Amino acid sequence: MVVVVIVVVAQGRRHDLTTGVRAAHGAHAVRPPRAVTRGALVDRRTGGLVLGAALVRARVRLLLLRDGHGRDRIEHAVLEVRPLLPDDVPAAAAVAEAALPDPLADDDAPWRLDWLRRRIGHLRATDPGGAWVAAGEDGEVVGVALALVRDRIWGLSLMAVHPALHARGIGTRLLRAALGHWDPDEVKGGIILSSTDPRAMRMYARAGFDLRPTVSLGGIVDRTAIPSGLRARPTDDVEAMAALGRPVRGGAYGPDDLAMLLSRPRAGAFAIEGRGFAVHVDGRPVVLCADTGGVGADILWSCLAAGRPGVTINVDYLTAGQDWAVRACLEAGLQITPDGPVFTRGELGPLRAWIPSGSLL
Ligand SMILES: CC(C)(COP(=O)(O)OP(=O)(O)OC[C@H]1O[C@@H](n2cnc3c(N)ncnc32)[C@H](O)[C@@H]1OP(=O)(O)O)[C@@H](O)C(=O)NCCC(=O)NCCS
Repeated sequence: MVVVVIVVVAQGRRHDLTTGVRAAHGAHAVRPPRAVTRGALVDRRTGGLVLGAALVRARVRLLLLRDGHGRDRIEHAVLEVRPLLPDDVPAAAAVAEAALPDPLADDDAPWRLDWLRRRIGHLRATDPGGAWVAAGEDGEVVGVALALVRDRIWGLSLMAVHPALHARGIGTRLLRAALGHWDPDEVKGGIILSSTDPRAMRMYARAGFDLRPTVSLGGIVDRTAIPSGLRARPTDDVEAMAALGRPVRGGAYGPDDLAMLLSRPRAGAFAIEGRGFAVHVDGRPVVLCADTGGVGADILWSCLAAGRPGVTINVDYLTAGQDWAVRACLEAGLQITPDGPVFTRGELGPLRAWIPSGSLL
């Protein structure tokens, strides 16, 4: 005899997206079918009952949530997605500051808004086709996306929606606009560094990008661990550094973009001629490319050594293949944690030895 148990879950607030997310957890794929059945939902839109008992294992979750995604939708906001104009830069920076996670280093904070403004202003000027805002009915900027193309590589430099307006489809519209900057005749590959926000990861994966898990290392450098005899030397040769991106990423960085990174307070750069380079901000490598892990590690140690003693350093977005960096950071006393994934699409270089840049990819 087959017993079918149906439990009607009380309706949450009309526009409470978390109701659906909790339902997703309730219908976790690895739970026994019986527990899932108990969590079966009545589909309010169609009035159709979901009969969980008829389902088994992972398929239970898929059916209950229709492709795992049966959340109530918050109504789409009435707004316009339009090119970012010079006058929008301060408002776009304010949205990005509100939406993006706080930097871990305390003393980054005072510089943050200024840095966001400069970064947005710079990329709007170099890549107007990749710079977009979402504006409400009153014209107020509520979202921003910035994409750049350098040497046939497209990169998403910034994506943020004001926290009060998340999950209304704004990010998806902004991403679509920023992808319009990807001319298939000109661009061969693309890179996105994702936050751990489920909305961001979902958006990028559904836009056809492949996910590469990453780790991040952070903490205060044990200065007694810094090796002697490092070969990397300080440099400000942005042309030479930019070119070293090509064998690693499949496309070079822009020299002017690297100059912008170097203009940050407490920024500096190290290179081993013809082999690799890094830009750091107070010891934190914000981009690194090298032809081998050994060269990468030498340059990374040089960055770590250049930070002020006692300052917190983060080394972010280490993908598979950056074990040279993981080992160096662990030896330096930093702690390892999972981080947001890197998403890639199309034709790129080997992506090693590489610490990507949050703003230049
Ligand atoms: C990430 C961000 C830009 C997305 O913008 P958004 O307007 O909130 O997202 P959308 O409404 O377009 O939703 C994107 C997808 O996530 C889904 N989604 C919405 N809420 C979700 C939730 N709580 N959990 C999982 N997925 C969710 C949407 O349904 C949509 O998927 P679909 O197109 O398959 O239906 C925005 O949430 C944000 O600014 N987050 C904080 C900053 C950040 O992390 N930026 C990204 C840096 S890489």
